[in-house]
Amino acid sequence: MSQEKKNILSCIQPTGDIHLGNYLGAVQNWVNLQENYNCTYGVVDYHAMNMLYKADQLRQNSWKMVFQLMACGIKAENLFIQSLVPEHSELCWILSNVCSFGELTRMTQFKDKSEQKKESDKDAFISSGLFFYPVLQAADILIYHADLVPVGKDQVQHLELSRNIAQRFNHQYGKEYFTHPEPLLTVNAKIMSLADPNKKMSKSLGEKHYVNIFGDENRIRKQVKSAVTDTGESEGMSAGVTNLFTLLKACNKQEAHDHLMEQFESGTLKYSELKGEVADGLVELCTPIRERYQEILADKKQIKGQIKASSAEIRKTAQKTLREVKDIVGILNPR
Ligand code: TYM
Repeated sequence: MSQEKKNILSCIQPTGDIHLGNYLGAVQNWVNLQENYNCTYGVVDYHAMNMLYKADQLRQNSWKMVFQLMACGIKAENLFIQSLVPEHSELCWILSNVCSFGELTRMTQFKDKSEQKKESDKDAFISSGLFFYPVLQAADILIYHADLVPVGKDQVQHLELSRNIAQRFNHQYGKEYFTHPEPLLTVNAKIMSLADPNKKMSKSLGEKHYVNIFGDENRIRKQVKSAVTDTGESEGMSAGVTNLFTLLKACNKQEAHDHLMEQFESGTLKYSELKGEVADGLVELCTPIRERYQEILADKKQIKGQIKASSAEIRKTAQKTLREVKDIVGILNPR
């Protein structure tokens, strides 16, 4: 890693296809940041184990996520798969000792996800991994001495926890060792579900709640067409219409955005026209990515080799950090 540039780290769970929220809230930004920063991006398969899953499916999903990230424009040399860098889980254990139980109980994502599971099945199994995973996330970040972490809004609380863990570690061991990572948000930090615009776009809500950026054109158009616009708010712009305007801007349709916004303000806006523009914008945004994905799929074997090599290279930084941390905390280093 070159010394002058700041370190950027971010990760994504391999739980299926990249959706519009992931792309606009995080991945698009990751691509652009590669020019001016030391960027490291992870496909975090250990994180995807805390909900029910099938072993073979997870392995396939990890590779699929690699191919999709590369189709979006992430360079192979910046990309690793978490299980190829086992030092993350070892650091996670060390860091768990400077993270309190109380801090973890305050994590809203744990509350949301466990409640969601209980709603569909009151006897649902809530793993301790789901509760504990923000510590692994802190390890993912701190092991690369990340200065900045480009994420969507839903990850800001986990970032705060990572900073607290870093500060407590530094204080407890009397050494300014870990950086204090800051979140890096975009204007699209919270894209909402088209089917329920009061909820964040997310895979865990079910198929109709997320737009797969690798989905076919007809499906994208259909999803936009059936987007909820009137969500019952009595005044101002509804959550659904606000979300559609956000998407229009995110697709670089500034002119259409301003024109339709004027119509909204004068009370003449036709939702069908707004939806038509959003659908065109999304299709334009997603088509080249989907085409690149097809090219990448034709070259899977070579790309897998590249990612194994880049993971091994990235692992060297993780190994160095873990060695230093073990020296600091009084744990033996093998050999
Ligand atoms: P994950 O896999 O759920 O999401 C990956 C990224 O997509 C962002 N995102 C969104 N942004 C805007 N609007 C949305 N509707 C939306 N949905 C998702 C997320 O904020 C995230 O940036 N715990 C993390 C993965 C992780 C991680 C890390 C992230 C593990 N270790 C270290 C950063 C640093 C997660 O589950 O993200």
